Amino acid sequence: MSNFLDELRNDHRDFDSGKLTDFFPQTPFELFELWFNEAIKNHEKEPNAMVLSTCDIKTYQPSSRVVYLKELLDSQFIFYTNYSSQKGKEIDLNPRASVLFFWPGLQRQVRIDGNVKKVGSEISDAYFTSRPRASQLGAWASHQSDKLEQRVILEQRFAELEKQFTHDIPRPENWGGYGLQPFIFEFWQGRPSRLHDRIVYEKQNSSWEIYRKNP
Ligand SMILES: Cc1cc2nc3c(=O)[nH]c(=O)nc-3n(C[C@H](O)[C@H](O)[C@H](O)COP(=O)(O)O)c2cc1C
Repeated sequence: MSNFLDELRNDHRDFDSGKLTDFFPQTPFELFELWFNEAIKNHEKEPNAMVLSTCDIKTYQPSSRVVYLKELLDSQFIFYTNYSSQKGKEIDLNPRASVLFFWPGLQRQVRIDGNVKKVGSEISDAYFTSRPRASQLGAWASHQSDKLEQRVILEQRFAELEKQFTHDIPRPENWGGYGLQPFIFEFWQGRPSRLHDRIVYEKQNSSWEIYRKNP
């Protein structure tokens, strides 16, 4: 049987899409915004998709999944989800989490560690209200991360809720936003000969220490 990874394993292309200057903004948020805008300009697919990793403190098992960054508010990375989901339960017990952006066209990744907490209900309400009706119904219908015996059960729940809610749909209590408050950022830029740039911003009280790491 042919190994489906053969071609990729033998792909030794160099990273030569970009480089960094030696000037770095004082805060990582400025650099993040700069890179994010470049990702958009570069037509990266899903520039606001981030891999969110949480860790179950009972088993020490980390788990990762993609969520969308919806806002950067008061220096917090905001995403929306079901508070009773696996990630929600893990965050309840262990608020430390990590998010990762990967923009392959620019050969860049940004890695951010921080503490996560729920955003105020008015922020969640405002975002929920802005969503299309079908997404609002979906939030009610999906008991996210619970076992589902058959897909048809989910579809029936959706259809019943559609009949039940004749006017505005309120936000489910267990659905809303989380904000990740970062204490460390690492900006990674692919460079030739595997001599990549890694620029770290580490929070020190009210300022950020900036340093490089070996690739
Ligand atoms: C591109 C993409 C974007 C996603 N965005 C979200 C999101 O913003 N919120 C969310 O709850 N799930 C989102 N998901 C689904 C999650 O990856 C995940 O399946 C779900 O949240 C359940 O995760 P959990 O069981 O680990 O809690 C997205 C998936 C993909 C592939």
